[in-house]
Amino acid sequence: MNVYDGQRIAAMLTARGMKQTDNISDADIIILNTCAVRAKATDKVFSALGRIRNAKKPDALFGIVGCVARESGADAFRRIPELNFVLGPQSYHKLPEILENPDIKLLNIDLGGLEKFDELPQMEKSPAVAYIPIQEGCNHCCTYCIVPYTRGRELSRPFNDVIKDTVHVANTGAIEICFLGQNVNGYKYTDSDGKTYKLSDLIREAAKLEAIKRIRFTSSYPTEMTDDLIEMFKTEPKLLPFLNLPIQSGSQNVLTRMNRPYSLNLYIDIVDKLKSARSDIQISSDFIVGFPGETDEDFEQTMNIAKRVKYINSYSFKYSPRPHTAAALMPNQIPEKVKAERLAKLDSYLNDLQREFNTSCVGKTLTCLYEGSDKTGKHLVYRTPYMQQCITDACDGIAPMLAQIEITDANKASLRGKIIK
Ligand code: 5AD
Ligand code: SF4
Repeated sequence: MNVYDGQRIAAMLTARGMKQTDNISDADIIILNTCAVRAKATDKVFSALGRIRNAKKPDALFGIVGCVARESGADAFRRIPELNFVLGPQSYHKLPEILENPDIKLLNIDLGGLEKFDELPQMEKSPAVAYIPIQEGCNHCCTYCIVPYTRGRELSRPFNDVIKDTVHVANTGAIEICFLGQNVNGYKYTDSDGKTYKLSDLIREAAKLEAIKRIRFTSSYPTEMTDDLIEMFKTEPKLLPFLNLPIQSGSQNVLTRMNRPYSLNLYIDIVDKLKSARSDIQISSDFIVGFPGETDEDFEQTMNIAKRVKYINSYSFKYSPRPHTAAALMPNQIPEKVKAERLAKLDSYLNDLQREFNTSCVGKTLTCLYEGSDKTGKHLVYRTPYMQQCITDACDGIAPMLAQIEITDANKASLRGKIIK
């Protein structure tokens, strides 16, 4: 979502005649687009702000947008008085105000609007992988999560607006689209005629576009994987056979305290249904270890669920207490050392699973999307349907955007292969 927001901001500045620079001391405007999901991300923002204020031109405009802006609000101006603007994730379309009035201090952390999607210009040329936000915010209120506070309640964009964006990216270079939302499979939009659209309707409509060859979506909530959406994996070949379906913990007790009230059996049923809809589907997850009160036994259950589902490409994090969340106030916070030990153990197992899956790809032929060449220029970098990086030798002439690649070798981090066509 932040990559997408950054692209929209860049398009807006480009349309105003600005150019990108990698050198802070050359910049006329510096914008940090920020994430507040864990304390470490927020801390990094403030240490970067400290560095930037010393390196920037004295009259350069300087500010933060995104979730840390929303989390900190006016306090950000107190901590870094040089800041010119602090704009939350739903108000970055207000940026032109600071360009027109560079002397004001601009603060807007309001929620509840989708105007930003309409008010900023689209990129003229789409990257091969285009992100298309379809909803923003989240109604789930997991007790550890700051997102419902920073991005607000769920709002789904009108079906026709999403399709208009999809047609635009298809006409300007996109080959793959990724529908985005904090709770993407909760997408639900009712138009003025009373017709309700779901994520499966968006996928079906987008798949009709000739230029679009691959479709994916992220991030999903387990109980909103409804049968119509699971069925899409059977009927829509453009939908990639890879799904991020965060479970967070394998302990029923911890899930209850996280306010993720689904049963583990239901989660496993959904995974089994997905596998029977499409036998080559693979699942990844997000995990949190060291949630308040998590016992060794709870943690072992997380290891067990990872073993049962055989996740690939997962993300795991130490629980980080966040402001405005219920879990930060819970008793039995877990010591840092225990969190670190559990994370190391889980990570090591998830890496084994990733390596095992990568190795199982050797000998197969996968359709991969071109990303660019490596630093040496001697190799090409592709992305498999499972988001693995696949390296091939450079070819004569122009690299095909979509290539059939025979996988010849694998390690934990990437694959190697030969372009067949
Ligand atoms: N601490 C650690 N990880 C968190 N996540 C969300 N909030 C927290 C937190 N307070 C993780 C979840 C989520 C991912 C985007 O970030 O695993 O799925
Ligand atoms: Fe946060 Fe995801 Fe839970 Fe929503 S479903 S509150 S975004 S972790």
